[in-house]
Amino acid sequence: MKLTILFFLLLFTGVSTYTSAQKSPKKSNVTVKPKSTTANAGNGKALYAQYCLSCHMVDGYGVQNLNPPLIKTTYVLGDKVRLTKILLNGFSERVEIEGEMYNNVMPSFNYLSNQQIADVLTYVRSNFGNKASAVTVAEVTKIRAGK
Ligand code: HEC
Repeated sequence: MKLTILFFLLLFTGVSTYTSAQKSPKKSNVTVKPKSTTANAGNGKALYAQYCLSCHMVDGYGVQNLNPPLIKTTYVLGDKVRLTKILLNGFSERVEIEGEMYNNVMPSFNYLSNQQIADVLTYVRSNFGNKASAVTVAEVTKIRAGK
């Protein structure tokens, strides 16, 4: 019986020190960053250099008739679902983009995380003369899940 009481006492003190430790950062002036749900276009720049630049070139100019530009195209500025699916599934259709025909293969980037896809697409949509809204991690997560 005594042991049970002791056990609960220990448990209680354990829990209360734990919860007060959790609360303590509030006392300082440090703002605790919530787990990032918004895209980060700074990472996007590095991701673009690593995964996209080789084909779409610096500033998204592309290579005529081979790799289309990423400057103000309907794909980049338009529907985020269609755009995200290009990265998740790859793209190899005969398409006309900015008055040029393209019939080449873009591989899938489905091995990138939802955060990385959101970051790189947000970067593309807000650079190279593009001015479109960010793509969020939540949106990519939904699209990948097929919802
Ligand atoms: C191996 C070369 C290659 C790489 C790497 C590549 N793409 Fe592409 N991309 C293409 C090709 C080729 C097409 C057009 C496909 C076709 O001809 O059907 C395309 C099409 C696109 C389109 C739609 C058309 C347009 O120009 O608006 C977007 C958007 C796009 N790519 C974004 C990206 C992003 C973002 C990355 C990096 C994560 C990337 N691509 C990496 C080759 C590439």
